[in-house]
Amino acid sequence: ASDNRAVMTDAHELLAKLYHHYLLNTEQGLKALEYLKNRGFTDEVISRFQIGFAPDSWDAATNFLKRRKFSLGLCEKAGLLGTRDFDGKFFDRFRNRIMFPIWDRNGKVIAFGGRILGSGEPKYLNSPETMLFNKGNNLYAMHLSRPQMRKKEQAVLFEGYVDTIAAWRAGVENGVATLGTSLTEEQAKLLKRNVPSVVICYDSDNAGVEAAFRASSILQKAGVNVRIAQMPDGLDPDDYIQKFGTEKFNRDVIGASLTVMAFKIQYFRRGKNLNDEGERMLYIEEIIKEISRLSNAVEKDHYLRQLSDEFNLSLEALKQQQFLTAKQQK
Ligand code: UTP
Ligand code: MN
Ligand code: MN
Ligand code: MN
Ligand code: MN
Repeated sequence: ASDNRAVMTDAHELLAKLYHHYLLNTEQGLKALEYLKNRGFTDEVISRFQIGFAPDSWDAATNFLKRRKFSLGLCEKAGLLGTRDFDGKFFDRFRNRIMFPIWDRNGKVIAFGGRILGSGEPKYLNSPETMLFNKGNNLYAMHLSRPQMRKKEQAVLFEGYVDTIAAWRAGVENGVATLGTSLTEEQAKLLKRNVPSVVICYDSDNAGVEAAFRASSILQKAGVNVRIAQMPDGLDPDDYIQKFGTEKFNRDVIGASLTVMAFKIQYFRRGKNLNDEGERMLYIEEIIKEISRLSNAVEKDHYLRQLSDEFNLSLEALKQQQFLTAKQQK
């Protein structure tokens, strides 16, 4: 079985080189290269992140692997090829897509994410779970970012390939991504082994914010100190950098990240009129619920006092409400 894994890894390594070659040196690759350049990808990042292009062909990778004497059955198990239902003939899984290699901790290619050029579904086609690739155990770009992570004693967590790469271009070289799935305990432990603290920098749409809350609680359970970065509505880190530039991204997004509680306070206030009694009560209820989830008694006290001061409420009443809410959640 370990032989099979080595063969599968070799196939990925060689295909990554082939796709990279297609992107940089072929007629077919030009439109992909142009797409990437338009999105701000430089030659340097294309090379560092081994970005490639899978040609619009059913058999380019299949024939390449066949010529290299790979077992095509094994390549299918590795998620690189598919088989036709009616005759079992092998075909390329990735066609006409920008290819992002996904590496293991040692920098070996073990999977791919393939982006469609422009719009269409699915936007990203990823390798399936295989003997080599367990999504929940991996973080995109971990091996590239580990040195800066260790140096800065902090990691930045993104949603996707493009954000990690855009941030790297902006000088944030300690970024990794979960690749569309929600953060797992294993990924949190992997981060914890490398850094004491993580800045979550997910998309600022509702899905991204909800995912950031879930990720923050998983990271906190793993003993990681968490901050959350804020961006204006709807933008993702790549959009933000395109729009406002790298300096502002470093200063106003990464540099101005908030503690989880401070972020939630901002988030729950958004769009509410706190002069309206109903909306104010709803807000207070939401914050008490968050306070009741804190494990640190001093922190609880701090935020209860803050509420008490801001809305001129008795601390006793807030404490009692917090206690009741905590009990209900058990
Ligand atoms: P997003 O939809 O936010 O994509 O998904 P993105 O990273 O901003 O990509 P661009 O800028 O449009 O190119 C975040 C991540 O979720 C995963 C990918 O890893 C993506 O980077 N995803 C998304 C998929 O796996 N499949 C999809 O169809 C969409
Ligand atoms: Mn998103
Ligand atoms: Mn996005
Ligand atoms: Mn994006
Ligand atoms: Mn987008």
